[in-house]
Amino acid sequence: MQPAAHAVAAGKLVAFPTETVYGLGANAFDEEAVKNIFVAKGRPTDNPLIVHISDLSQLTALVASVPEKARLLMTAFWPGPLTLVFPKSARVPDVVTAGGTTVAIRFPSHPIAQYLIRLAGVPIAAPSANRSGRPSPTTAEHVRQDFQGEIGFLIDAGPSEVGLESTVLDVTDEMPVLLRSGGISREEIEAVIGPIALDESSLDAQEPARSPGQKYRHYAPQARVVILPKITEQHVQMYQQAGQKVAVCGLNQAHTSADLEQFFDDVPTLAHHLFAAFRQADEQDIDVILVEAVDKTGLGLAVMNRLERASQA
Ligand code: TXA
Ligand code: MG
Repeated sequence: MQPAAHAVAAGKLVAFPTETVYGLGANAFDEEAVKNIFVAKGRPTDNPLIVHISDLSQLTALVASVPEKARLLMTAFWPGPLTLVFPKSARVPDVVTAGGTTVAIRFPSHPIAQYLIRLAGVPIAAPSANRSGRPSPTTAEHVRQDFQGEIGFLIDAGPSEVGLESTVLDVTDEMPVLLRSGGISREEIEAVIGPIALDESSLDAQEPARSPGQKYRHYAPQARVVILPKITEQHVQMYQQAGQKVAVCGLNQAHTSADLEQFFDDVPTLAHHLFAAFRQADEQDIDVILVEAVDKTGLGLAVMNRLERASQA
């Protein structure tokens, strides 16, 4: 850990585990280091980064104010997979926020992420550690696949617990806005602060997206993703007869003649394995992944958001 923490402090990039997905981090106050994240990922510079902290005292240097509802959410869900968007302080470099007036902050619960931030002695700006457009990495091997030795440090702590990214909630207005569903559910948030608005702006939205990341095609395997209310053998055969290699994915299903079957017991397990399932389908040259829709409640909202984005090829 010491060498990785020194690397961050010295302006280098470090890939590290969190409870959601692996991140590609740099010292959030080091403009040049943060620029290198965008270069390494091939990430559009208008898409801001989340700043990760390991102690509430770090907030003071990063945000201009802490709204009351944010305080309640921090008490309830930090550390954990909830990112809050605050008015930014002048100290946060523009490159982190893509020139915007807000900054996204997350306090991860993963002990190694916390330890790295503490040892580095600075907040760490980090997007998911995938090349732009690829599914987020939920194992160190996924990070290796995408970057092949281009990153100085990669801390391997096994598979990510949640498997989907954090929830992003904008708390700068009186009515908080859910910008990205994720590890903490809408219902859990509303139980603490009451009703929130939902704005997971669609890819074809005419308005500029409030959470810029949501306008890019994301989470996408090379294979086509087709969401169905119910998968049947007939669906599988229809694609196979057209010469396509088919994968099926969802909760406990009837067996089919699909070339790859990925079934899971419940929504959290599906969420945990979803991005790995996408990557596995690509490794096996699958042409089309048929996925059975799940209810948009709890973690199901985040699962469906990732599936819908992946299907908008
Ligand atoms: O679980 C996670 O959040 C992971 C781990 C590594 O912490 N990180 C992650 O980062 O998913 P990234 O960059 O892949 O996604 C961050 C999302 C993007 O959609 C981005 O547009 C949005 O958060 N975002 C960042 N800063 C924002 C801001 N100031 N206002 C609105 N949206 C923001
Ligand atoms: Mg990402």
